[in-house]
Amino acid sequence: PIVEHPRITVIGVGYLGATHAVCMAALGYDVLGVDVDESKIEQLRAGRVPMYEPGLEAKLGEALASGRLTFTTDMDEAAAFGDVHFVCVGTPQAADSQAANLSYVEDAFSALAARIDRKALLVGKSTVPIGTAERLTALVSEISPLGAELELAWNPEFLREGFAVEDTLHPDRLVFGVTSEWADRQLSAAFAPILAQGTPVVRTDLSTAELVKVAANSFLATKISFINAMAEVCEATGADVDLLAKALSYDTRIGGRFLKPGLGFGGGCLPKDIRAFAYRAEELGVGQAVAFLHEVDEINNRRRVRMVDVIRDLAGGNLAGKTVAALGAAFKPNSDDVRDAPALDVARMLYLEGAEVRVYDPQANKNAHRRYPDLNYSGSMADAVTDADVVALLTEWDEFVDADPSMLGDLVRTRRIVDGRGALDRGAYLQAGWEFRALGRPAHT
Ligand code: UGA
Repeated sequence: PIVEHPRITVIGVGYLGATHAVCMAALGYDVLGVDVDESKIEQLRAGRVPMYEPGLEAKLGEALASGRLTFTTDMDEAAAFGDVHFVCVGTPQAADSQAANLSYVEDAFSALAARIDRKALLVGKSTVPIGTAERLTALVSEISPLGAELELAWNPEFLREGFAVEDTLHPDRLVFGVTSEWADRQLSAAFAPILAQGTPVVRTDLSTAELVKVAANSFLATKISFINAMAEVCEATGADVDLLAKALSYDTRIGGRFLKPGLGFGGGCLPKDIRAFAYRAEELGVGQAVAFLHEVDEINNRRRVRMVDVIRDLAGGNLAGKTVAALGAAFKPNSDDVRDAPALDVARMLYLEGAEVRVYDPQANKNAHRRYPDLNYSGSMADAVTDADVVALLTEWDEFVDADPSMLGDLVRTRRIVDGRGALDRGAYLQAGWEFRALGRPAHT
């Protein structure tokens, strides 16, 4: 039998899980958020979101007030509560290889399987190597007192940081990796309000569902590295990659999204996902099919090195003793996430060459400081740029893009700026007397 209005548990309330739990409650379901991290649960109960995500805290407040969303650290409670259990725990890169660390996923499924004693659906949302869901199916039916009655589905998530609520409530598509009619119908019941919007659903086997996720992120990463590879060619020829990207973007087969050249991609997903995918493909004997992902990764990493080269060049060939204002630390604007952040990586490289680096990010200073305590952190953009020899735009926050070049010019020691994100108004800077460099563009002084 299908539960038409299922009770939902969400195991793991990090980025993905917290967003999913809050949005499911907003859609009218009774939701229990579960995590082993006591302090995370305490914060969420108190209406605080442990990361910076526009709009999420307001939605959390509404969900708590409605009484539809509660939190626990108790797995017994979770197992008893849910008709549909979403597993949203992390799959970080393993400490000793490029593979994904699956221990949190395995623990979550095992813990649920050992405790659930009535028909329920377990749904994996975490990004996992292909074949994991099938392996977990076997594990679950072995552990569960219900045996194969306890079914498993895979439902990858495509939300972007900074747009998490919007992407969850209005996804481009849903992917249901299901192995039975019952699982399909039960999962559909858990997404009824989103299906009612006319959202396309692609129903697949488990492996295809897993693959859609890593294929999508691989495609996006490849698109970014493609334009950044063109930036390298532009730098060798005096061509302008921003104009190139613009001209390419009008071809509707190519399109302009994810074609923005600059410092490249970072964050907790794209870099680790392409590495884990390449690793898994090797294991499956099809490493050659995705060997290009190594190149995608390399191109991406070379942008950071190139950025340091341009900054050093502008500083007169040597960074020792020079003051560099590093504007941005997060891997992208509207986020406080510094995982694999190109910005912070550049700041660290500058520091290692002897520069005095002053990092300022509107939201990520705290996380950046935790990651690299040796760098200097400024409380404002004005503090960071005061007496700077070079200003480096590393994350394109509005606050930086909208800053007035003359006002900034009055604070710095020398008016020199490098735009690592192709985000600044070059004309305005040149007019205000700045030496202006940008990745992938000819130098203008
Ligand atoms: C990415 C995907 O976009 C989501 O669909 C996916 O669900 C998510 O990973 C995930 O796997 O969880 P996210 O990591 O939030 O989302 O960030 P993006 O908006 O994709 O940006 C990734 C990086 O690429 C950023 O560092 C950004 O600065 C960079 N980027 C993006 C570019 O350098 N150029 C572009 O044109 C676009």
